[in-house]
Amino acid sequence: MGRLNGKRAIVTGAGSGIGRASALLFAKEGASILAVDKTGDAVTETVKQIAAAGGKAIAMAADAGIEADVIAYMQRALKEFGGLDVVYANAGISGGLVPLFEQTVEHWQEILRVNLIGPFLAIKHAGQHMVGQKAGSIVCTASVAGLRANAGGNPYSASKAGVISLVQTAANSFYGTGVRVNAICPGLIETGMTKPIFDMARERGTDRNIGQLNPMNRYGEPREIAAMAAFLASDEASYVNGQAIAVDGGLSATHPFRRPRP
Ligand SMILES: NC(=O)c1ccc[n+]([C@@H]2O[C@H](COP(=O)([O-])OP(=O)(O)OC[C@H]3O[C@@H](n4cnc5c(N)ncnc54)[C@H](O)[C@@H]3O)[C@@H](O)[C@H]2O)c1
Repeated sequence: MGRLNGKRAIVTGAGSGIGRASALLFAKEGASILAVDKTGDAVTETVKQIAAAGGKAIAMAADAGIEADVIAYMQRALKEFGGLDVVYANAGISGGLVPLFEQTVEHWQEILRVNLIGPFLAIKHAGQHMVGQKAGSIVCTASVAGLRANAGGNPYSASKAGVISLVQTAANSFYGTGVRVNAICPGLIETGMTKPIFDMARERGTDRNIGQLNPMNRYGEPREIAAMAAFLASDEASYVNGQAIAVDGGLSATHPFRRPRP
């Protein structure tokens, strides 16, 4: 028996990185998956990988920050699976590191649209269904960037701080309904989003330094975030609600300091 046996789940941003790893793990744990990504080819590849591993999944191209698309992916899951138990609102963009004085309102709006309004829309539309069945788990990807500075640009960090607040307030909006809402705050994970950082470090030969600021002294892998997402999605987390859980090798537990040279 998998930990998500019989669950019907949507994963957004499932075409790459954390979303793909989570879709694969959810399926391995027995869930039926609607894998959503704005990039159709990428999410089709994820579904192929799930099918090859013996899992059940459907691909759908949609923009997680557009309400009509969110309604469409919810309806698709309900139609294909006959219900919905889990939504992992994971799709996100970094927006790069633009100097503050060069940031435009449009730059901010696009990052907030995808990273914060996307999870809000997932919560709004999944929540309506889940409240009716008096059960459901909604998981969002925030970031350590939402906890403190220096893990992303200003709008990215603000969007992720917004996600942390969103899961706290939404958990209370669902008071007494049985619907849980939580977030994960990943540290530095090797994915499509962080590829430029890893490429640059490998080019310079400094890749051994990646992750040196956290007590694990290494970067993380998508499967390590997927493991937390699967736990939060499952009934094992039945009393975990309104939390933003860091999966960061201990980075957010650590004050900045200079380590003694070995
Ligand atoms: N990689 C890290 O170090 C890290 C750290 C903290 C948080 N995160 C967060 O993890 C989540 C997943 O990112 P990742 O690192 O796996 O990056 P990734 O770029 O590998 O994957 C993100 C996926 O989301 C999709 N996507 C982007 N905008 C979308 C939209 N509007 N609608 C639908 N799909 C969209 C992309 O096409 C891509 O497939 C993001 O929310 C990101 O902010 C990542």
